[in-house]
Amino acid sequence: MIDERLTEATGPDDPALRPRNLDEYIGQERIKRNIQVYIRAALNRGESLDHVLLAGPPGLGKTSLAYILGEELGVEVRTASGPTIERQGDLAAILNNMGDREILFIDEIHRLNRAVEEVLYPAMEDYELDVVLGSGPAAQSVKLPLQRFTLVGATTRSGLLTSPLRARFGIQCTMDFYTPGELQRIIERSCRELSMRITEDGARELAGRCRGTPRVANRLLKRVRDFAEVEGSGVIDLPITRLALERLEVDQCGLDGMDIRILEAIAHKFDGGPVGISNLAAAIGEESDTIESVYEPFLIQQGFVQRTSRGRILTRRGCDHIGVAPSEDAATGMATETEQETLF
Ligand SMILES: Nc1ncnc2c1ncn2[C@@H]1O[C@H](COP(=O)(O)OP(=O)(O)OP(=O)(O)O)[C@@H](O)[C@H]1O
Ligand SMILES: [Mg+2]
Repeated sequence: MIDERLTEATGPDDPALRPRNLDEYIGQERIKRNIQVYIRAALNRGESLDHVLLAGPPGLGKTSLAYILGEELGVEVRTASGPTIERQGDLAAILNNMGDREILFIDEIHRLNRAVEEVLYPAMEDYELDVVLGSGPAAQSVKLPLQRFTLVGATTRSGLLTSPLRARFGIQCTMDFYTPGELQRIIERSCRELSMRITEDGARELAGRCRGTPRVANRLLKRVRDFAEVEGSGVIDLPITRLALERLEVDQCGLDGMDIRILEAIAHKFDGGPVGISNLAAAIGEESDTIESVYEPFLIQQGFVQRTSRGRILTRRGCDHIGVAPSEDAATGMATETEQETLF
């Protein structure tokens, strides 16, 4: 199952399936409506768009939206990734090369190191670089002006962002999982782009089993197509979709092998919880960070797991799903609202 891990954060997306403008970007209506206003306002005033933070689990369309902002504003998008900017000078060079109103997209912005992050503060706020010339008593601090650029930061873990950095984003968008209806439209669009034939009930079935995530929908769609071509009639219909998802070990609720391992570990190894993330990670042999950013958000959103200040607990729904009797915590609903931590 390792190589087929369908919800994995990394791995290539098909560039043909990436929405190219806001019209093609399906769902996230609330975010889209507001972004449209900010774009129009910035264009009317001839100004750069305010800095944008895009937060949410992997595969929900943060990178796609960053490029769409460039498209809609008619400007270049330059890209960088948090962990690959090692030194202050690297970021200073990137910023110094930015053109007027261009977008700098920094992916995984929560992984920028602190020293590098400090370069961003004056750059974002005043469009200036603080440069220290020389060293010792003769050192001089000078300010270099920058073009008025837009920083677009993406993060799967906005809780790990420092508050000074977060505060400098004028526009903050938290992405939601997609509804089955939106996913069905995404799947149907992907089929048109790739000249695949799909029936309405096939698309609906797939839409309900892809973890609310367009990337997962597109990955599963390609695998289902393989089954349709080799073991079916070539058309993606309901029976072949069900067969393919069963063979891929994706269950009725869209949970895959790793999701089930997480639920079972909490149930069987930790008596239903509460269990801390590092113990859970050790029990299933997965990185804590991957569990927190890739798997857990959907399990929590769907009500299989609850995150409390004392750790993760399996809910009644989680217990029912894997066929175990609810633990006392789950049965009494011990995690109160206030105990629940925020997701991102
Ligand atoms: N709103 C959308 N409409 C249509 N397709 C979408 C949408 N959002 C995402 N997709 C599809 O899902 C793929 C993955 O999206 P994207 O790379 O933008 O996610 P991401 O949030 O940046 O993920 P990560 O956190 O892993 O970087 C895209 O290539 C595209 O095919
Ligand atoms: Mg991305």
